[in-house]
Amino acid sequence: MNLEELNHIKTIALQAAQDAETPEAIEAVRIEYLSRKGRLPKIMAELKQVPPPEKPLFGKAVNEFKIQLTDLIQAKQAATKPTAPPSAFDLTQPGQWHPLGTRHPITQITQRITTIFQTLGFTVADGPDIETIFNNFDALNTPPDHPSRDEQDTFYLENGELLRCHTSPVQVRYMQSHTPPIRIISPGRCYRRDTPDATHSANFHQIEGLYVDQDVSLADLKGTLAHFARELMGPYVKTRFRPHFFPFTEPSVEVDFTCHVCNGKGCRVCKQSGWIEILGAGMVDPNVLTNVGYDPQTCSGFAFGMGIERIAMILYGIADIRHLYENDQRFLAQF
Ligand code: PHE
Repeated sequence: MNLEELNHIKTIALQAAQDAETPEAIEAVRIEYLSRKGRLPKIMAELKQVPPPEKPLFGKAVNEFKIQLTDLIQAKQAATKPTAPPSAFDLTQPGQWHPLGTRHPITQITQRITTIFQTLGFTVADGPDIETIFNNFDALNTPPDHPSRDEQDTFYLENGELLRCHTSPVQVRYMQSHTPPIRIISPGRCYRRDTPDATHSANFHQIEGLYVDQDVSLADLKGTLAHFARELMGPYVKTRFRPHFFPFTEPSVEVDFTCHVCNGKGCRVCKQSGWIEILGAGMVDPNVLTNVGYDPQTCSGFAFGMGIERIAMILYGIADIRHLYENDQRFLAQF
C-alpha cells in the first residue's frame, strides 16, 4: 500500500462517517475501520512492509487518519445521541387544583368560643368521656333522686362508671387538682339517652366555663357573658338572665341572647319572643366548692355551660341537628 491508496481509503472512510446519520450507521463505520479486526489495524500491520524511507511519512499519515476518523465518529455519536426520555412531569401543564377541606362546623364554633374566652384569660381544660358517678353527679351537688341520674337519661357502664352527661365533671377534676384563682373552659363530648330527632342527639358537645377566685359575683358572670354574646353575635346583641335551677349553681340562670335574625323584634326563628336561649349558668354552689376541698368562705365562683350544636344551628341556620353528624360533603362544604 502506498500513500495514495491510503489517502483514497481515508477519503472514503471520512465520507462514510460524515454520511452516517443514525447511531447504528455510525457504529457500522467505526467497526469497519477502527475495531480490532477493522481496516485501520490491518493498515498498521502493513506498515512493516513499507520501505524504510517512506515509513515515517506513511506512519504519520496513518496516525492522522486514525485521529481524524475517531474525532469525527465521536462528534457524530454525540450529535445523534438519543435525547433523554421525556420527563413524566410536564412543567408547562397548568397545575391540578385539589380543593381544600373545611373544618367541621362543630369544630369551627368550638374554636370561636374558645378564642373568645382565651382572650379573657381562660385556659382550656380537658377531661375524659367516661366519668365516675361522683364527678358527674355527687360532687356537683346533684341529689340522689335527681331525674338526670335515671338510667333512662344517662348511659351507665357495667363497671359502675358512666358516659358523662355534661362537661361539668371537668370542673370537679380541675378544682381538685388546682387552687384558686382558676379560669377554665372545657369543650367536649357528652352523652344522654335521648332519642335522636331534629334537636336531640344521644351524643353531642358542650362547652363549660368556670371561674373561681375571691369575691367573684353574679355581676362578673353577667359582664363576662354579655361580652361573650357581643363577641359571638355582634355588638348590638343584648343578654337576658332568667332565674332557673341547676343543682351545682345557686343562684342559677338561663341566659338568652336577642334573636340574631330579627334583632329582638320577634320573628319565626325566636317564636316572636325576640330572645333565643343560649346558656345555662350560675354561681357555683358552696356545696360544690366544699366537695372539691375549697373553702366557700374565702372563694366564690361562677360557671356556665352551653351546647355547641345548638349554637352552630342558630348561627348557621341549620334546621336539623342530624345534618351535623352525617358527614355529607354537600352539607359540610358550605362552612
Ligand atoms: N351542665 C349544665 C347542663 O348540662 C349546664 C351548666 C353548666 C349550667 C354550668 C350551669 C353551670 O345543662
